[in-house]
Amino acid sequence: METQDSHVNSDETKDPGAATYGNFINYYTFNPPENRLGLIPEALLENLGLDSGDEPVLMLDVGCNSGDLSVALYKHLLGKNASGSKLHLLGFDLDQDLILRAEASNPFPRNIQFIPLDITDDAESQICLSSYLEKHKRSRFHLCTCFAVTMWVHLNHGDTGFKSLLARLASLSDYLLLEAQPWKCYRSAARRLRKLGRSDFDHFKALEIRGDMAAHAGQHLEKHCSMELMQSFGNTSWDRSLLLFRRR
Ligand SMILES: C[S@@+](CC[C@H](N)C(=O)[O-])C[C@H]1O[C@@H](n2cnc3c(N)ncnc32)[C@H](O)[C@@H]1O
Repeated sequence: METQDSHVNSDETKDPGAATYGNFINYYTFNPPENRLGLIPEALLENLGLDSGDEPVLMLDVGCNSGDLSVALYKHLLGKNASGSKLHLLGFDLDQDLILRAEASNPFPRNIQFIPLDITDDAESQICLSSYLEKHKRSRFHLCTCFAVTMWVHLNHGDTGFKSLLARLASLSDYLLLEAQPWKCYRSAARRLRKLGRSDFDHFKALEIRGDMAAHAGQHLEKHCSMELMQSFGNTSWDRSLLLFRRR
Protein backbone atom coordinates (compact mmCIF):
# COMPACT_ATOMS: atom_id res chain seq x y z
CA MET A 1 0.00 0.00 0.00
CA GLU A 2 1.23 3.48 -0.79
CA THR A 3 1.85 5.24 2.49
CA GLN A 4 1.45 8.91 3.19
CA ASP A 5 5.19 8.97 3.73
CA SER A 6 6.11 7.45 0.40
CA HIS A 7 3.70 9.79 -1.34
CA VAL A 8 5.00 12.94 0.31
CA ASN A 9 8.63 11.99 0.15
CA SER A 10 8.89 10.78 -3.40
CA ASP A 11 9.19 13.18 -6.31
CA GLU A 12 8.57 10.21 -8.55
CA THR A 13 4.95 9.85 -7.41
CA LYS A 14 3.68 13.31 -8.14
CA ASP A 15 3.99 13.85 -11.83
CA PRO A 16 1.18 12.35 -13.89
CA GLY A 17 3.40 11.56 -16.86
CA ALA A 18 5.43 8.40 -17.22
CA ALA A 19 8.92 9.85 -17.10
CA THR A 20 11.02 6.72 -17.16
CA TYR A 21 14.25 8.68 -16.85
CA GLY A 22 12.93 11.12 -14.24
CA ASN A 23 12.67 13.72 -17.00
CA PHE A 24 9.61 15.32 -15.48
CA ILE A 25 8.34 18.56 -16.93
CA ASN A 26 7.40 21.07 -14.24
CA TYR A 27 9.59 19.19 -11.76
CA TYR A 28 10.31 22.38 -9.85
CA THR A 29 6.67 23.13 -9.13
CA PHE A 30 6.70 20.19 -6.70
CA ASN A 31 10.36 20.17 -5.72
CA PRO A 32 11.46 23.82 -5.70
CA PRO A 33 15.20 24.57 -5.59
CA GLU A 34 14.90 25.88 -2.02
CA ASN A 35 14.35 22.31 -0.77
CA ARG A 36 18.02 21.59 -1.48
CA LEU A 37 19.52 25.08 -1.38
CA GLY A 38 18.43 25.58 2.22
CA LEU A 39 20.94 22.89 3.24
CA ILE A 40 23.89 24.04 1.13
CA PRO A 41 26.08 26.76 2.69
CA GLU A 42 26.27 29.94 0.60
CA ALA A 43 29.97 30.05 1.45
CA LEU A 44 30.60 26.55 0.10
CA LEU A 45 33.12 27.62 -2.55
CA GLU A 46 34.96 29.75 -0.04
CA ASN A 47 34.90 26.91 2.51
CA LEU A 48 36.46 24.59 -0.07
CA GLY A 49 39.15 27.12 -0.89
CA LEU A 50 37.83 27.55 -4.43
CA ASP A 51 37.03 31.21 -4.11
CA SER A 52 40.57 32.59 -4.04
CA GLY A 53 42.68 33.43 -7.05
CA ASP A 54 41.66 34.45 -10.53
CA GLU A 55 41.30 31.01 -12.06
CA PRO A 56 37.86 30.03 -13.28
CA VAL A 57 35.85 27.79 -10.99
CA LEU A 58 34.04 25.06 -12.93
CA MET A 59 30.86 23.40 -11.80
CA LEU A 60 29.04 20.54 -13.47
CA ASP A 61 25.38 19.76 -12.82
CA VAL A 62 24.49 16.24 -13.93
CA GLY A 63 20.86 15.65 -14.93
CA CYS A 64 19.93 19.32 -14.63
CA ASN A 65 16.33 18.95 -15.90
CA SER A 66 15.06 22.44 -16.90
CA GLY A 67 17.96 24.13 -15.12
CA ASP A 68 16.04 25.79 -12.27
CA LEU A 69 18.15 24.24 -9.52
CA SER A 70 21.39 24.77 -11.51
CA VAL A 71 20.71 28.50 -11.87
CA ALA A 72 19.48 28.87 -8.29
CA LEU A 73 22.59 27.06 -7.01
CA TYR A 74 24.82 29.22 -9.19
CA LYS A 75 23.27 32.38 -7.68
CA HIS A 76 23.39 30.90 -4.19
CA LEU A 77 27.12 30.14 -4.45
CA LEU A 78 28.03 33.43 -6.10
CA GLY A 79 27.41 35.04 -2.75
CA LYS A 80 28.36 38.60 -1.96
CA ASN A 81 32.09 38.43 -2.47
CA ALA A 82 32.65 35.95 -5.24
CA SER A 83 33.46 37.26 -8.64
CA GLY A 84 30.63 36.15 -10.92
CA SER A 85 32.75 36.23 -14.03
CA LYS A 86 35.00 33.39 -12.88
CA LEU A 87 32.27 30.97 -11.82
CA HIS A 88 31.15 28.74 -14.69
CA LEU A 89 28.49 26.08 -14.67
CA LEU A 90 27.80 23.41 -17.24
CA GLY A 91 24.46 21.64 -16.84
CA PHE A 92 23.40 18.69 -18.91
CA ASP A 93 20.45 16.37 -19.22
CA LEU A 94 19.51 13.56 -21.56
CA ASP A 95 16.17 15.21 -22.35
CA GLN A 96 16.64 17.69 -25.21
CA ASP A 97 13.31 19.47 -24.56
CA LEU A 98 14.27 20.16 -20.96
CA ILE A 99 17.61 21.54 -22.15
CA LEU A 100 15.82 23.85 -24.60
CA ARG A 101 13.76 25.15 -21.71
CA ALA A 102 16.87 25.59 -19.58
CA GLU A 103 18.60 27.53 -22.35
CA ALA A 104 15.56 29.71 -22.96
CA SER A 105 15.45 30.88 -19.36
CA ASN A 106 19.19 31.02 -18.70
CA PRO A 107 19.91 34.38 -17.04
CA PHE A 108 23.74 34.06 -17.35
CA PRO A 109 24.46 32.68 -20.83
CA ARG A 110 28.10 33.78 -20.66
CA ASN A 111 28.75 31.68 -17.57
CA ILE A 112 26.10 29.00 -17.56
CA GLN A 113 25.73 26.53 -20.41
CA PHE A 114 23.22 23.76 -20.89
CA ILE A 115 23.78 20.84 -23.23
CA PRO A 116 21.91 17.64 -24.05
CA LEU A 117 23.95 14.65 -22.93
CA ASP A 118 23.45 11.17 -21.52
CA ILE A 119 25.95 10.42 -18.75
CA THR A 120 25.71 6.71 -19.54
CA ASP A 121 26.92 7.30 -23.09
CA ASP A 122 30.61 7.00 -22.24
CA ALA A 123 32.03 8.02 -25.60
CA GLU A 124 29.79 11.03 -26.15
CA SER A 125 30.04 12.33 -22.58
CA GLN A 126 33.81 11.87 -22.64
CA ILE A 127 34.07 14.01 -25.79
CA CYS A 128 31.70 16.76 -24.65
CA LEU A 129 32.97 17.10 -21.11
CA SER A 130 36.65 16.82 -22.03
CA SER A 131 36.32 19.55 -24.61
CA TYR A 132 34.62 21.84 -22.08
CA LEU A 133 37.38 21.13 -19.54
CA GLU A 134 40.14 21.61 -22.11
CA LYS A 135 38.67 24.95 -23.08
CA HIS A 136 39.16 26.01 -19.47
CA LYS A 137 42.54 24.26 -19.17
CA ARG A 138 41.30 21.88 -16.52
CA SER A 139 41.26 18.10 -16.24
CA ARG A 140 38.35 17.99 -13.78
CA PHE A 141 35.47 20.12 -12.58
CA HIS A 142 36.02 21.76 -9.23
CA LEU A 143 32.55 20.83 -8.06
CA CYS A 144 30.18 18.33 -9.57
CA THR A 145 26.56 18.13 -8.39
CA CYS A 146 24.29 15.18 -8.98
CA PHE A 147 20.84 15.69 -7.50
CA ALA A 148 18.18 12.99 -7.75
CA VAL A 149 19.67 11.19 -10.76
CA THR A 150 21.25 8.00 -9.32
CA MET A 151 17.97 6.10 -9.11
CA TRP A 152 17.07 6.75 -12.75
CA VAL A 153 20.42 5.50 -13.98
CA HIS A 154 20.18 2.54 -11.60
CA LEU A 155 16.66 1.56 -12.72
CA ASN A 156 17.48 1.91 -16.39
CA HIS A 157 21.03 0.51 -16.42
CA GLY A 158 21.17 -1.82 -13.43
CA ASP A 159 23.83 -2.22 -10.74
CA THR A 160 26.60 -1.90 -13.31
CA GLY A 161 25.17 1.39 -14.52
CA PHE A 162 24.85 2.68 -10.94
CA LYS A 163 28.50 1.87 -10.18
CA SER A 164 29.70 3.26 -13.51
CA LEU A 165 27.82 6.48 -12.85
CA LEU A 166 29.55 6.93 -9.50
CA ALA A 167 32.95 6.16 -11.01
CA ARG A 168 32.28 8.62 -13.81
CA LEU A 169 31.23 11.35 -11.38
CA ALA A 170 34.33 10.75 -9.29
CA SER A 171 36.60 10.90 -12.31
CA LEU A 172 35.10 14.23 -13.29
CA SER A 173 35.27 16.09 -10.00
CA ASP A 174 37.47 17.36 -7.23
CA TYR A 175 34.38 17.71 -5.03
CA LEU A 176 31.12 15.88 -5.54
CA LEU A 177 27.80 16.85 -4.02
CA LEU A 178 25.46 13.90 -4.23
CA GLU A 179 21.76 13.42 -3.52
CA ALA A 180 20.89 9.76 -4.01
CA GLN A 181 17.22 8.77 -3.95
CA PRO A 182 16.35 6.37 -1.13
CA TRP A 183 15.06 2.86 -1.86
CA LYS A 184 11.43 3.73 -1.16
CA CYS A 185 11.53 6.01 -4.22
CA TYR A 186 12.52 3.03 -6.38
CA ARG A 187 9.43 1.16 -5.26
CA SER A 188 7.22 4.19 -5.93
CA ALA A 189 8.72 4.68 -9.38
CA ALA A 190 8.19 1.02 -10.31
CA ARG A 191 4.65 1.04 -8.91
CA ARG A 192 3.75 4.16 -10.87
CA LEU A 193 4.99 2.63 -14.08
CA ARG A 194 2.88 -0.47 -13.45
CA LYS A 195 -0.21 1.64 -12.69
CA LEU A 196 0.22 3.29 -16.05
CA GLY A 197 0.16 -0.16 -17.64
CA ARG A 198 3.81 -0.07 -18.60
CA SER A 199 6.15 -2.96 -17.91
CA ASP A 200 8.52 -2.67 -14.99
CA PHE A 201 11.92 -1.08 -15.28
CA ASP A 202 14.15 -3.65 -16.94
CA HIS A 203 16.45 -3.99 -14.00
CA PHE A 204 14.28 -3.31 -10.95
CA LYS A 205 13.76 -6.85 -9.70
CA ALA A 206 17.33 -7.90 -10.40
CA LEU A 207 19.02 -5.08 -8.52
CA GLU A 208 21.34 -6.41 -5.83
CA ILE A 209 22.31 -2.97 -4.62
CA ARG A 210 19.29 -1.97 -2.56
CA GLY A 211 18.43 -0.67 0.89
CA ASP A 212 20.39 2.30 2.12
CA MET A 213 21.25 3.87 -1.22
CA ALA A 214 23.20 6.84 0.16
CA ALA A 215 25.38 4.41 2.14
CA HIS A 216 25.90 2.18 -0.91
CA ALA A 217 26.85 5.16 -3.04
CA GLY A 218 29.24 6.42 -0.36
CA GLN A 219 30.87 3.02 0.06
CA HIS A 220 31.42 2.64 -3.65
CA LEU A 221 32.89 6.12 -3.97
CA GLU A 222 35.20 5.51 -1.02
CA LYS A 223 36.29 1.95 -1.82
CA HIS A 224 36.56 2.12 -5.59
CA CYS A 225 36.63 5.72 -6.74
CA SER A 226 39.26 7.45 -4.56
CA MET A 227 36.72 9.74 -2.95
CA GLU A 228 36.03 10.32 0.73
CA LEU A 229 33.01 11.66 2.53
CA MET A 230 33.77 15.15 3.71
CA GLN A 231 30.47 16.39 5.05
CA SER A 232 26.76 15.71 5.21
CA PHE A 233 24.58 18.76 4.79
CA GLY A 234 21.65 16.93 6.37
CA ASN A 235 18.41 15.67 4.93
CA THR A 236 15.95 17.42 2.64
CA SER A 237 12.24 17.58 3.39
CA TRP A 238 11.99 14.46 1.18
CA ASP A 239 14.38 12.71 3.56
CA ARG A 240 17.29 12.56 1.15
CA SER A 241 20.78 13.27 2.36
CA LEU A 242 23.06 15.74 0.64
CA LEU A 243 26.58 14.35 0.87
CA LEU A 244 29.76 16.14 -0.07
CA PHE A 245 32.71 13.98 -1.17
CA ARG A 246 36.23 15.03 -2.05
CA ARG A 247 39.02 13.46 -4.00
CA ARG A 248 41.49 11.63 -1.74
C1 LIG B 1 14.30 13.79 -10.85
S1 LIG B 1 15.10 14.80 -12.05
C2 LIG B 1 16.24 15.74 -11.05
C3 LIG B 1 16.59 17.07 -11.68
C4 LIG B 1 17.62 17.89 -10.94
N1 LIG B 1 18.90 17.24 -10.86
C5 LIG B 1 17.14 18.20 -9.55
O1 LIG B 1 17.40 17.44 -8.62
O2 LIG B 1 16.48 19.22 -9.39
C6 LIG B 1 16.23 13.64 -12.82
C7 LIG B 1 16.86 14.20 -14.07
O3 LIG B 1 17.92 13.35 -14.47
C8 LIG B 1 17.92 13.25 -15.88
N2 LIG B 1 18.60 12.02 -16.27
C9 LIG B 1 18.24 10.74 -16.02
N3 LIG B 1 19.12 9.87 -16.53
C10 LIG B 1 20.08 10.63 -17.11
C11 LIG B 1 21.26 10.32 -17.84
N4 LIG B 1 21.60 9.05 -18.08
N5 LIG B 1 22.04 11.34 -18.31
C12 LIG B 1 21.67 12.61 -18.10
N6 LIG B 1 20.55 12.98 -17.43
C13 LIG B 1 19.77 12.00 -16.94
C14 LIG B 1 16.44 13.27 -16.24
O4 LIG B 1 16.20 13.60 -17.58
C15 LIG B 1 15.89 14.28 -15.23
O5 LIG B 1 15.83 15.57 -15.77
